[in-house]
Amino acid sequence: MAVKTTAVAQKVDVAKQFKYAEEQTSYMLDALKTADTSNGLVSPRTFEDGKLKLVNSKDWTSGFFPGILWYLYDYTHDEKWLKQAQLFTAKITNEQYNKTTHDLGFMIYCSFGNGYRLTKDERYKKVIIQAARSLSTRFNEKAGVIRSWDHNKDKWKYPVIIDNMMNLELLFKATELTGDSSFYKIAVSHADQTMINHFRPDYSSYHVVDYDPETGKVIQKNTAQGYSAESAWARGQAWGLYGYTMCYRETGDKKYLVQAQNIAKFIFNNPTLPKDLIPYWDYNDPAIPNAPRDVSAAAIMASALYELSTYSTGNDYKEKADVILANLSNHYKAPLNTNGEFILLHSTGHKPAKSEIDVPLTYADYYYLEALLRSRKFANAE
Ligand code: GLY
Repeated sequence: MAVKTTAVAQKVDVAKQFKYAEEQTSYMLDALKTADTSNGLVSPRTFEDGKLKLVNSKDWTSGFFPGILWYLYDYTHDEKWLKQAQLFTAKITNEQYNKTTHDLGFMIYCSFGNGYRLTKDERYKKVIIQAARSLSTRFNEKAGVIRSWDHNKDKWKYPVIIDNMMNLELLFKATELTGDSSFYKIAVSHADQTMINHFRPDYSSYHVVDYDPETGKVIQKNTAQGYSAESAWARGQAWGLYGYTMCYRETGDKKYLVQAQNIAKFIFNNPTLPKDLIPYWDYNDPAIPNAPRDVSAAAIMASALYELSTYSTGNDYKEKADVILANLSNHYKAPLNTNGEFILLHSTGHKPAKSEIDVPLTYADYYYLEALLRSRKFANAE
């Protein structure tokens, strides 16, 4: 796989990257006009084996493309993007009632959450609150955590994955919108239990922790998407970094800040992290350096690091995020009108399942645009 590595951060020209993102996403919208959307397919997820792959609204990634459209509107204030964002957001409205997955945070917060932030549309607010209610039904008092998956019942009794940290933002927002603290309490309990049970002494995290829902005790710790039970799956570490940074923002509880800082320490002290700070898909894959990268993990890390950098002094998180963003922009971006019209190359979705290896992924693009927007705030401050 030909990826360049460089530690040199050039200043990212945010305007230029958004201009590119607008053009590339316009090509995506054209592609979607002619794509087969029978079977309720609504949102692009990846481009694999020469084919654009769309998902239905139930898929965990269905909210990212609407989120990308909201970020384009956020940056440009162009009505064209507002219309498209509203259109694609509307397609996943029914998921607010979905009680079969923990992924409602991803699906509803990236779409309706951004939509509400930018438009204050009361209908969006209602969807966010209903989605938080649906997500809350998956909370188990005994274990103090939200159940992630309902599948593979023969393997896990009550699986919780590190990714689930990302879904807590929806709950924090629902408490802010309603004054009902029950959402907040569930989020805090989940974050606390995850801190106790998901992390190793070096602050790397397990992917899956399985609980006994009757006793609340941990039964086993392993992985689904990582190299092995004891390995550090790159995107999982990025979800943890982002999740605890967000928990600190929402609660002001210092322990979450320290947790995020310790996760950052694990990532950046890891000897397998390449100089360009775009991680291999799993920090413990013995095939490194001949292993695929995961650009999605890098994009999530960059976005999280910009926020984390604002919560303490004397850190170099912003500089690290700048390096990641510059390298993504200069070395991992697809030429216009290629890559199935996705923005970034070289992500890894599910390597153990031999699925989505070295491909574009919609969530890599989403967090890349989010990181660009966050980086702009620093540029404006300067
Ligand atoms: N949340 C699923 C993933 O990160 O692949």
